[in-house]
Amino acid sequence: MRTQVAIIGAGPSGLLLGQLLHKAGIDNIIIERQSGDYVLGRIRAGILEQITVDLLAEAGVGERVKTDGTVHHSIELVFSGKRHAIDVHGLTGGKVVTAYGQTEVTRDLMDARSAAGLPTVYSAANVTVNDFDTDHPVVRYEKDGQTHEVTCDFIAGCDGFHGVCRASVPEGAITEYEKVYPFGWLGVLADVPPVSTHAIVYANSERGFGLCSMRSLTRSRYYVQCPIDDKVEAWSDDRFWDELRRRLDPDMAERMVTGPSIEKSIAPLRSFVAEPMRFGRLFLAGDAAHIVPPTGAKGLNLAASDVKYLSSAFIDHYIEKSSAGIDNYSQQALARVWRAERFSWWLTSLMHQFPDTAGFGQKVQEAELDYLVNSEALSRSLAENYVGLPLDFDVGLPLDFGRR
Ligand code: APR
Ligand code: PHB
Repeated sequence: MRTQVAIIGAGPSGLLLGQLLHKAGIDNIIIERQSGDYVLGRIRAGILEQITVDLLAEAGVGERVKTDGTVHHSIELVFSGKRHAIDVHGLTGGKVVTAYGQTEVTRDLMDARSAAGLPTVYSAANVTVNDFDTDHPVVRYEKDGQTHEVTCDFIAGCDGFHGVCRASVPEGAITEYEKVYPFGWLGVLADVPPVSTHAIVYANSERGFGLCSMRSLTRSRYYVQCPIDDKVEAWSDDRFWDELRRRLDPDMAERMVTGPSIEKSIAPLRSFVAEPMRFGRLFLAGDAAHIVPPTGAKGLNLAASDVKYLSSAFIDHYIEKSSAGIDNYSQQALARVWRAERFSWWLTSLMHQFPDTAGFGQKVQEAELDYLVNSEALSRSLAENYVGLPLDFDVGLPLDFGRR
């Protein structure tokens, strides 16, 4: 078959890109190696920047996040046994974040794509991306015992960290930057009322980091920092709840409602960026190009901003007959990626226990946190990064790019 843009991957990046291109009248197909149910079954993050919420509305899937999402005007930091609120709304001139699970974002986008009758190939095997250094790239995949071929103008690599697109780039054409953190996150999902419904709670303690989040008013998402080689089998629900409560202030620990976990898993933490994000007619977006430690809740939001830049670039190409967006995509996207990488690294470094600097490092972290909650300047810096930096900041590109 023939299309204008072949999208590899039906995660948030691919689905959102598909919707924005469809809204602009640009033909696209999504080719996904897993089943739709498998994609929906993934437990991922749950905090949306306003830019992401606005993009969902632009893509025609903004209704449910408005009715089912929970708007947060603040975040809370726990350290030295005390909890402090950071007035994100006040410090950023009225900006907020919305608690709404990535699973729901994916579901909304899948439903919209299906309702529009757009072509999506699930369970595609042996996907390859070819000839993207020419004007006629080709995607091939196997399904139902047959090899299929998609000729297109562009390929969007929305296939995540372990995808085929970045792996298909010639080694000399790509530079990878990586930092692996010496610990993991043990995450628990439970159908119990969140201990905090108005703010995400980030806890620094000598025992390690803890985080209290939510998926709805009846479903909670909690995490504790754990050793990088820890095993989920070593964590009973009781052990998890006891450990989380030890990392919180006494009042919050007392109020916490516990219950059986419906999902429990350990995830490693890494920072990763691949440069550039364009190779001829192949473009990388989302986790295919970068990974952030989940501390700053930037993974999904960075995927959304990449997709905004990339969809604008394709619209410039097809509608405005301009190559500016395509030529500037990588530089524009990477400028915002690195600012989010910095913030995610900074917050991770501030909140977690690092094995090699335990004593002194803990005291420095507590001093920085004490400074932060008493400094409007540092609190504002945290707040403006948390709600999401603007899309259209000057990175030395022609001023008209990206301001769609
Ligand atoms: N062929 C086709 N599809 C593939 C291939 C392949 N070779 N490899 C991976 N995929 C699919 C995966 O099955 C997945 O559904 O690409 C999709 C990539 O989705 P994500 O990994 O969710 O990445 P992205 O869409 O960029 O979303 C980023 O997801 O993982 C979280 O924390 C991350 O919140 C961030 C968001
Ligand atoms: C989540 O809800 O999974 C979540 C929230 C905030 C974070 C990280 C994860 O910083």
